[in-house]
Amino acid sequence: MSFIEISDLKRVYKMSKEVSVEALRGVSFEVQKGEFISVVGSSGSGKSTLLNILGGLDFEYTGEISIDGKNIKEYNPNFYRRNIVGTIFQQFYLIPSLSVEENILLPLKFVKNRNIDVNERLESLLEMVDLKNRRKHFPKELSGGQAQRVAIARALIDNPKVVLADEPTGNLDSKTGESIIRLLKELNKTESVIVILVTHDKNISAKTDRVITLVDGKNV
Ligand SMILES: Nc1ncnc2c1ncn2[C@@H]1O[C@H](COP(=O)(O)OP(=O)(O)O)[C@@H](O)[C@H]1O
Ligand SMILES: [Mg+2]
Repeated sequence: MSFIEISDLKRVYKMSKEVSVEALRGVSFEVQKGEFISVVGSSGSGKSTLLNILGGLDFEYTGEISIDGKNIKEYNPNFYRRNIVGTIFQQFYLIPSLSVEENILLPLKFVKNRNIDVNERLESLLEMVDLKNRRKHFPKELSGGQAQRVAIARALIDNPKVVLADEPTGNLDSKTGESIIRLLKELNKTESVIVILVTHDKNISAKTDRVITLVDGKNV
């Protein structure tokens, strides 16, 4: 059994009684433990729709997704979004009024009875994303690359099994973007997380283990 199994995934956005958009029209693929894969396709091909569903942000789909042998609809949604997947976005979505370390720790605010040593995890993540000397900084005091590294650390704080990245280099210059991809690749190995990277950049997808191509809401 594969760690992630997606079968015949469909998503229709109903705009009104008459108008609807078929964003996903039957996507099926599997991902193995340890893989770093990319999802490519032109704008509007359904990449973000797919990632939002995998991220547990959208349940209005048909078809089936199982992760670690369990249908994702059967997980507690909060548990799923913390401990199964961690998501990063093009826009970083850091909280402006919180420092780097507060942003990283934010997902834990809502968790009782933590069983990981939070301080230890924070230190090792700051080290991994090379932000030890920026821990008290606020988002507006960071470069784009640093901001995305904070978002990566935040996504990893609760040891998820899968990192979902929706165009994480879209707001970065190409050199900084490459360093983010290198970091994700390193984390894929050291943290043994699956990484699913959405991009429309062929140079970036070429650096991943395997490429899933979406065309009009289907993988080809
Ligand atoms: N919330 C939404 N409501 C209606 N239509 C949407 C919504 N989100 C995306 N779409 C439509 O679904 C299709 C796929 O969009 P999206 O998944 O964002 O593609 P991509 O990320 O590949 O650019 C597009 O035609 C888009 O206009
Ligand atoms: Mg998109």
